[in-house]
Amino acid sequence: MKKTILSGMRPTGRLHIGHYVGALENWVSLQGDYQNYHLVADLHVLTTNTNTSNIEDYTLDMVMDWIASGIDPEKSPMFRQSQIKQHSELFLIFCMLITKSRLERNPTLKEQVRDMEIDNMIYGHLGYPVLQAADILLYKGNLVPVGEDQLSHIEITREIARKFNFEYGNVFPEPDPKLTKFSRLPGLDGKAKMSKSLGNTIFLSDAPEDIFASVKKAVTDTQKQRKNDPGRPEVCTVYTYHEKFNPAETETIAADCRSGALGCVDCKKRCATAISDFFEPIRERRAPLAANPEKVKEILLDGETKARKVAEETMRQVHEAMKLG
Ligand code: TRP
Repeated sequence: MKKTILSGMRPTGRLHIGHYVGALENWVSLQGDYQNYHLVADLHVLTTNTNTSNIEDYTLDMVMDWIASGIDPEKSPMFRQSQIKQHSELFLIFCMLITKSRLERNPTLKEQVRDMEIDNMIYGHLGYPVLQAADILLYKGNLVPVGEDQLSHIEITREIARKFNFEYGNVFPEPDPKLTKFSRLPGLDGKAKMSKSLGNTIFLSDAPEDIFASVKKAVTDTQKQRKNDPGRPEVCTVYTYHEKFNPAETETIAADCRSGALGCVDCKKRCATAISDFFEPIRERRAPLAANPEKVKEILLDGETKARKVAEETMRQVHEAMKLG
């Protein structure tokens, strides 16, 4: 039997190229060798937002990007966490298997508290990785392709699986994380992470002219002021994009940047062309979906029917193991 992949994202609207190289690309390349399940983590949104008015639009935009990137709805169910009630039940049970101090030590949470300037955390936010553990283990996920910032959550998932199995009998696998080679793409402003809230992104669905405009304003080596100044590719954001999206030219670009033969204006044009070409098939597959959101809703309903079956069976095993009737 194929092993299971479970991964998901919070619905934050259109995805950016950092999502693609950090996780989505892996989802697609592993599809076929694994049985994939992909969830829209709409309940996780509630850990940091009380305003839910955009969730439906954001969900549809994101799922369009998933499908356009190559997730096949026939093979890989896509579903909203909120529509499968078992996530909430398993979350509650898992809440009893981990300590408060363990969750307070979670580095991803600490980073979020710092970045979002949260001074009074809600109870559910502390439990973010516990809900994520329920997401993964409900489908008995073996492999979880995610970005680097999620590794701590997979570790917590493993601990919860182990604790459950120890207390009640062997129900859950201990899942492994899977990182992509470029698990963190820097933002246009040179910050370590591309993120919608930082406004330093290129979206998967951006038109070529938007990509050109974005790359034009990207941060490069600040010591390379004039075209013929020698540059340092290793500190340049645009060079990182070349490495990912323009591998055939990377070596010459590095050499010509160092020697001063290549200026940033030209280098950026070549970079924008490479990014635009790379995502062209995705833009083409996305357009008909954007024109027909009803189709995307149907895909979700269908995915939810399939996911619910698996979730029901796992909860039956959980109840049996726990002697909960
Ligand atoms: N926490 C993940 C993120 O922010 C999203 C997520 C929720 C997830 N449930 C998951 C990822 C289960 C992998 C598996 O990116």
